[in-house]
Amino acid sequence: MAKPILIVNGPNLNLLGTREPQIYGSQTLNGIEASVKGRARDAGMKVDFRQSNNEGQMIDWIHGAREKACGIIINAGAYTHTSVALMDALLTCNLPVIEVHLSNTHRRENFRHESYIAKASTGSISGFGGFSYELALDALIYYLNENEIN
Ligand code: DQA
Repeated sequence: MAKPILIVNGPNLNLLGTREPQIYGSQTLNGIEASVKGRARDAGMKVDFRQSNNEGQMIDWIHGAREKACGIIINAGAYTHTSVALMDALLTCNLPVIEVHLSNTHRRENFRHESYIAKASTGSISGFGGFSYELALDALIYYLNENEIN
């Protein structure tokens, strides 16, 4: 059995469903977790799905993935635009990383156009609401298969 895919969610994403639904949609994080896990199951993969409002906790999970995961999907929330520490943590992992966002950050305020996560990522998906996570999962599985990583 392949190692699981680690999905890390950052600050304020626990409030999805009620948080600015005009931007982020009405799906809750639990709902996204259920749909992404279902899709992973269909593909014969396991997902370890987590959320924290703390940067240090997210870094510890990424360090853990170095041994325990086959790849990382990350929505770092606002830390996307500020965290050199998260970028550095991702760069310590010799793993494919997919950056994911619900909103299209490039259509929004200028400060959201910079992404430290993108600098440590294989690729990025944004703008499709909760479905961005399913697209990110497909992209990661495609990449793992193409590169014969398991
Ligand atoms: C977000 C975009 C970020 O700019 C914002 O700070 C978030 C959510 C998204 O998924 O669209 O918290 O990562």
